[in-house]
Amino acid sequence: MDNYMELSFPSLSVNEGFARTAAAAFAAQLDPTIDQLSDLRTAVSEAVTNAIIHAYGSDPAALITLRCEREGRKIRIMVKDTGCGIADIELARRPFYTSKPELERSGMGFAVMEAFMDRVEIDSAPGEGTTVVMEKELEGRRGG
Ligand SMILES: Nc1ncnc2c1ncn2[C@@H]1O[C@H](COP(=O)(O)OP(=O)(O)OP(=O)(O)O)[C@@H](O)[C@H]1O
Ligand SMILES: [Mg+2]
Repeated sequence: MDNYMELSFPSLSVNEGFARTAAAAFAAQLDPTIDQLSDLRTAVSEAVTNAIIHAYGSDPAALITLRCEREGRKIRIMVKDTGCGIADIELARRPFYTSKPELERSGMGFAVMEAFMDRVEIDSAPGEGTTVVMEKELEGRRGG
């Protein structure tokens, strides 16, 4: 691993924007394109929003950890909570599946992460929490 950063913040919706921007700032060392940065931001936003909305109910003291690693031109992003966990990961990944239709969620968070990243891994157990690991190879700019 060439570089990494890790930070923790409480499960407050205001921190979704902070996490997204922090991950993008870390990725800046790879000199990414605007499109690549936008993809990363969107994926981080979905993962952190999930932790805020689904993991902890409304406990603002609960912590979310964001870790970003760089290896060559690959970036790996981990979003971890110690909340309720996911009982059926395959079901949760399914497009349009949401356990909170009453909140007008569309059930597209994991589908969006998969669309914008090369690989999305979900490690979760009920009562223990959830870790989402996402990877993306940032291809070099043309001529760069
Ligand atoms: N960190 C988490 N902790 C507990 N459950 C989770 C977590 N992340 C996702 N889930 C579960 O997986 C389901 C699917 O997540 P996904 O992000 O795809 O959809 P959503 O959050 O319900 O809707 P959307 O992201 O479109 O607003 C959620 O409804 C929830 O039940
Ligand atoms: Mg979601």
